[in-house]
Amino acid sequence: MRSGKMKDKNILVGIAYNAYDPVTGRNGERVSEECVEQTAKEVLAAVTELGYSAFIIPLQRSFMSFLHRLKELKPDVLINLCEGFLGRAQLEANVAAALELLGFAFTGNDSRTLALCLNKFKTKAVLKSCGLPTAPSRLVVSPDQKVDLPFPLIVKPNTEDASLGIHPESVVHDKEGLERQVRRIFELYEEPALVEQFIEGREFNVAVFENSKPQPLPVSEIDFTTMPEGSPKICSYEAKWFEDDILCQKTPPVCPAKIDEGLQKKIQDTAVAAFENLGCRDYARIDFRMDQKGKLSILEVNPNPDISLNAGYARALAASGMEYKHFWELMIENALKRKGKE
Ligand SMILES: Nc1ncnc2c1ncn2[C@@H]1O[C@H](COP(=O)(O)OP(=O)(O)O)[C@@H](O)[C@H]1O
Ligand SMILES: [Mg+2]
Repeated sequence: MRSGKMKDKNILVGIAYNAYDPVTGRNGERVSEECVEQTAKEVLAAVTELGYSAFIIPLQRSFMSFLHRLKELKPDVLINLCEGFLGRAQLEANVAAALELLGFAFTGNDSRTLALCLNKFKTKAVLKSCGLPTAPSRLVVSPDQKVDLPFPLIVKPNTEDASLGIHPESVVHDKEGLERQVRRIFELYEEPALVEQFIEGREFNVAVFENSKPQPLPVSEIDFTTMPEGSPKICSYEAKWFEDDILCQKTPPVCPAKIDEGLQKKIQDTAVAAFENLGCRDYARIDFRMDQKGKLSILEVNPNPDISLNAGYARALAASGMEYKHFWELMIENALKRKGKE
């Protein structure tokens, strides 16, 4: 008889990702989407190394063709890396929802958590009602809406991710700047703007993964100490995605963060509480800022973070001593266990 382990390796793993579409994707903000293909290749290499048979299924312009491919190839489990559809992050949850309706075992968060967390304002409302810290903010739904918060503020699209729409000018110090940035969000993204108190201070993020229960990885910090004078200390789109940009070079991540044990534990406990209260499963990354007085605020919860080898999540795995491929093995097991329970 085959051993349990051998039997496990007989399963077929599909890796689904959303392919960048030059027609529907937004010009100039495509790097984050283009990178998913590279992630899929890295995940393929990792699961192949584990001994699984695996293949990649790109989600392109036709959702129907994607489903046909799934039906043909019949994976036992899918690694769902899809961050949207047709260049729209707002459709990220719909992809997971379709997989749920079709009864696929898949890794990553379910459609409800993906949909909730994409909406930063609603996520903040849930965090707040659970007693978790998040900065004061207003959802601006029309260009003439008044905002009763003191400056400085930051203006972000409410339902995007990957720092889309976040640039140095997004930090505003007066009414004119605020109005200009709100208009920009409406024009470019056709969605409400989230206007949030700007927190001057350190930035941390924590990757959390589920292994029977949620477990935090070492805290990571974005080091802003060498940022050019006059540039707001934020992870803008340029800082996150353009390796040649000075803003990227001057925002290096440091993992593990150089913080004392007490702060490390406080950030990790808060991240795990956010993970649980938002109904996350498998993996997520929680972003924080800390003000000058040491008060922490959760900026957002990322239920589908960049999980490529050169991004923060993998860096945190490496810092904890967990191999990338073993992380994926655990996620595959989680997905199969869930399916078994249905
Ligand atoms: N309230 C805030 N105070 C200070 N910086 C912020 C604030 N909100 C966002 N930022 C900066 O903008 C970056 C992106 O914002 P975030 O809310 O994490 O959205 P995204 O989904 O695009 O990552 C953060 O990593 C941080 O550097
Ligand atoms: Mg973020």
